[in-house]
Amino acid sequence: MTPAGEGDMSADTRAERGVARAGHTCLAHLPIPATNEGSLAHLIAGRRARREFGPRPLTGVEIGLLLWAGQGITGPDGGRAAPSAGALYPVTLTLVDARGVWRYHAREHALEIACAGDCRSPLAAAAFSQEFIAKAPITIAVSARPAVLEPRYAGRAERYCVLEAGHVAQNVLLMATELGLASVPVGAFDDVAVLPTLKLGAEHLPLYLLPVGAPLTPRPSRQRQVGEGTDDDGGDPCRSGMP
Ligand SMILES: Cc1cc2nc3c(=O)[nH]c(=O)nc-3n(C[C@H](O)[C@H](O)[C@H](O)COP(=O)(O)O)c2cc1C
Repeated sequence: MTPAGEGDMSADTRAERGVARAGHTCLAHLPIPATNEGSLAHLIAGRRARREFGPRPLTGVEIGLLLWAGQGITGPDGGRAAPSAGALYPVTLTLVDARGVWRYHAREHALEIACAGDCRSPLAAAAFSQEFIAKAPITIAVSARPAVLEPRYAGRAERYCVLEAGHVAQNVLLMATELGLASVPVGAFDDVAVLPTLKLGAEHLPLYLLPVGAPLTPRPSRQRQVGEGTDDDGGDPCRSGMP
């Protein structure tokens, strides 16, 4: 980035204007973001992947807020918390907890039981034995049906489904952070094994698993600095080269 008129500045002038050189790159430094308690910046800075969950079950209020953040109706015209190409909403949210597998219905803001019984261990097995999924009180699975978008977006339908899942997942993760809950986005799983576990048909593209629970340990108070590693990325098969 080269601010206009910077080329003939003296070093002192550059420093005064907050412009620095690193090799051949010209850096125009930006104001450090203020992450005041209660601000969106604070929430974003506070989100971290956390994979250790305490035994406390989540409350109905917490589950409702997490699902609402992902796909809830937020406008009188049926608009939802996450953007959707053409407002066609191809995303489905499925909740897995100790009681069963549940489908979220956005319009009614309600859960419908799809299958009774605890499927958390089979879900962890389908995610290449990422055992923290079996220990999480809930997992919210994000899937999407490209067929919903294909009539309008043809060959871009699948791409848009993946993009939409990212919006939905980030909303859920930020809501979990806001509620003081631990969560992590999981993308490493076997599609063929995950779909039947979630009681979903082959028309669904399974895109994310979001285990959520009360944290086992309190959130570290110190914010991680730019460039530092995470303190809790052990066991991420994405990092170890697994699919
Ligand atoms: C597309 C995607 C897939 C991921 N899949 C997994 C996964 O399968 N298992 C896991 O433990 N973490 C997974 N993660 C979480 C990352 O390991 C984590 O985001 C990363 O270490 C950065 O840390 P942070 O989220 O705390 O900033 C995934 C993240 C993304 C964006």
